[in-house]
Amino acid sequence: MKINIGVLTAGGDSPGLNSAIRAIGKSAYQKFDAHVIGFLDGFRGLMQDRHVHLDSARLSGILTVGGTILGTSRDKPDRMMVGSKKLDMTDAMLEVYNKHHLDVLVCLGGGGTQKGAHTLMKKGMNIITLPKTIDNDIPETDQTFGFDTALGIATEAVDRLHSTAHSHHRIIVVEIMGHNTGWLALGAGVAGGADVILIPEIPYDVAKISDAVLARSRSGKRFSIIAVSEGAIAVNDLHAQMELISQKDQAMTKEERKQITDDLSQFKITQKENAFHLANLLEKSTGLESRVTILGHLQRGGAPSATDRMLATQLGAACIDCIDKGIYGVMVAIQGGYTKPVPLDDIVGRCKSVPLDHPWIKSARYVGTCLGD
Ligand code: F6P
Repeated sequence: MKINIGVLTAGGDSPGLNSAIRAIGKSAYQKFDAHVIGFLDGFRGLMQDRHVHLDSARLSGILTVGGTILGTSRDKPDRMMVGSKKLDMTDAMLEVYNKHHLDVLVCLGGGGTQKGAHTLMKKGMNIITLPKTIDNDIPETDQTFGFDTALGIATEAVDRLHSTAHSHHRIIVVEIMGHNTGWLALGAGVAGGADVILIPEIPYDVAKISDAVLARSRSGKRFSIIAVSEGAIAVNDLHAQMELISQKDQAMTKEERKQITDDLSQFKITQKENAFHLANLLEKSTGLESRVTILGHLQRGGAPSATDRMLATQLGAACIDCIDKGIYGVMVAIQGGYTKPVPLDDIVGRCKSVPLDHPWIKSARYVGTCLGD
């Protein structure tokens, strides 16, 4: 069968993207008389028709390489910055899709990419997506590729912080990525034996954390490691934010609305400094010197783990099965070890948070970890 496949990677990069690109390309060449092209820098490269031929030479030697050989961006097809304007560029993308006589466009990405791909699906393109993100927050899939590698990196960081925190009798607050979910912080916190783990799903009370640190001090453990997810929020702040949102809904005048919108933006800025704020409060309340480590983009860098290489390869290969069967408008998920196409309609607009009864939460509590509540 003669088939034309387009591939792009969008959103934050993630270990395993190249493994997936390789699996798609190699499987396509095994199965079909295929022509595979890769668009550069996500949806922007599609709009601008910047592409490379993903021939077998380009697919060699990339299984173990971090990042994405195609480049990426956070552009949205229907709200793309062009000059100083945000424009709907989906028609331009459809033109490029048709120009290359594509039978399918495969989009590799996280929540934002699923949304963008869904928009293009509604425009009439045959779309298949793969779930990629270190955040692990895509619904209907047990895991996203990138997560396992980031989990390993964050766990090693928590491990290493132990000896320095112990030597100096300090509190170390380590901020872990994850966007609005706590999978990464919870996983690394449990695996690395953090004393306190704070995730967005469980708003925290600083007094409770302080009590936990002081209790450790009383029992002779004069240091604490606090793994805090970048999206974690204090109960008080959450209430204040909800109050502002409800005020915004009830605002009578344009000026009032603007003021509240500004206050909410300020909230987001302050939230970015959450780890530092928390460390200061704990230093004051416990008398222990505190330090902050922000792991940041380190968590997305470098070679994918064996698990991520295998997952990305499995999903990439399954994508070719979908093409063979003419199954489009789906994300290829992994469920119980098996791949499964899930309609994009069931993915878009949803986020997979950590359920409060998740076994990782239960085991953290069982071993005496404070979750800030
Ligand atoms: O979605 C992946 C992620 O690394 C999040 O964990 C984090 O909030 C965000 O991307 C950071 O985005 P950027 O790379 O654009 O700074």
